[in-house]
Amino acid sequence: MSISVENLSYVYMQGTPFEKAALEDISLQIDDGEFVGIIGHTGSGKSTLIQHFNGLLKPTSGRVIINDIDTSGKGLKELRRHVGIVFQYPEHQLFEETVYKDIAFGLRKQNLPEEEAKEEIHRVIEAVGLSTEILEKSPFELSGGQKRRVAIAGVLAMKPSILILDEPTAGLDPRGRDEVFGFITDIHKKMGITVILVSHSMEDIAKLVNRVIVMNSGRLEMDGRIEEVFSDIERLESIGLSAPQIAYLMRSLKKLLPKIDDKAYTVAAARDELLKHLKERGA
Ligand SMILES: Nc1ncnc2c1ncn2[C@@H]1O[C@H](COP(=O)(O)OP(=O)(O)OP(=O)(O)O)[C@@H](O)[C@H]1O
Ligand SMILES: [Mg+2]
Repeated sequence: MSISVENLSYVYMQGTPFEKAALEDISLQIDDGEFVGIIGHTGSGKSTLIQHFNGLLKPTSGRVIINDIDTSGKGLKELRRHVGIVFQYPEHQLFEETVYKDIAFGLRKQNLPEEEAKEEIHRVIEAVGLSTEILEKSPFELSGGQKRRVAIAGVLAMKPSILILDEPTAGLDPRGRDEVFGFITDIHKKMGITVILVSHSMEDIAKLVNRVIVMNSGRLEMDGRIEEVFSDIERLESIGLSAPQIAYLMRSLKKLLPKIDDKAYTVAAARDELLKHLKERGA
């Protein structure tokens, strides 16, 4: 499914003294099957933007069209089945006695026969890298990373065509973060769905996505391939962001080793580039 945003503006509490313009004249297009990152400082409008993608918020002006459904018109129920949003701290919404029941709760609206629901629950729990034994546990016995994965499994069970994750690793320790990111790439590849990842971490964005949208004070500041966006360190810094740390290291190294390509934004890419360079020098 594709997303088309045309001149979207959004004002919270319009017409009151608390009126707040959160999005201003945003236009963008996300094609079917893309894996896109959204970054931007706190309050830049990331969460407001993604809540327009399933019609939870409606444009104050402009249009948001998902496939051929205008989110200001009819067909919202249909739309919500296709667009799954994992909100920040989704584990706060786990409340059933067992993990199984929690995932089944979301599925209930779909009226699946018991047997099919069970298959689906097994499929999604494996898709997020957990063993099916966890299904009989209470959500409260799980680690932070496991809880987060169960919450994501609940959204996946709805078989969304577009999966949106708002800061899916917020508050997790490094191990929990790796656990969560480990399967997001898999889900994108295997299920062929559109994935949109909101994150504060430049390192995570660089590792996972190909395209990144940068928000700044409610406006769309940059939209391009990772290499394009992260090579413009000055512009990122001018809006209070930075490139991944490794980009700064590569930049300094380029002064010593002018032949290296300093457009490496992950540790793995930087290592490969340096090894290649050292081999060429040694030969
Ligand atoms: N329910 C609301 N009522 C009024 N103003 C709001 C509401 N939600 C957000 N805002 C304001 O709208 C602007 C955009 O907020 P938003 O939550 O979209 O930013 P964000 O980029 O997701 O921030 P963060 O990185 O902190 O999650 C901010 O100025 C925020 O204070
Ligand atoms: Mg937010």
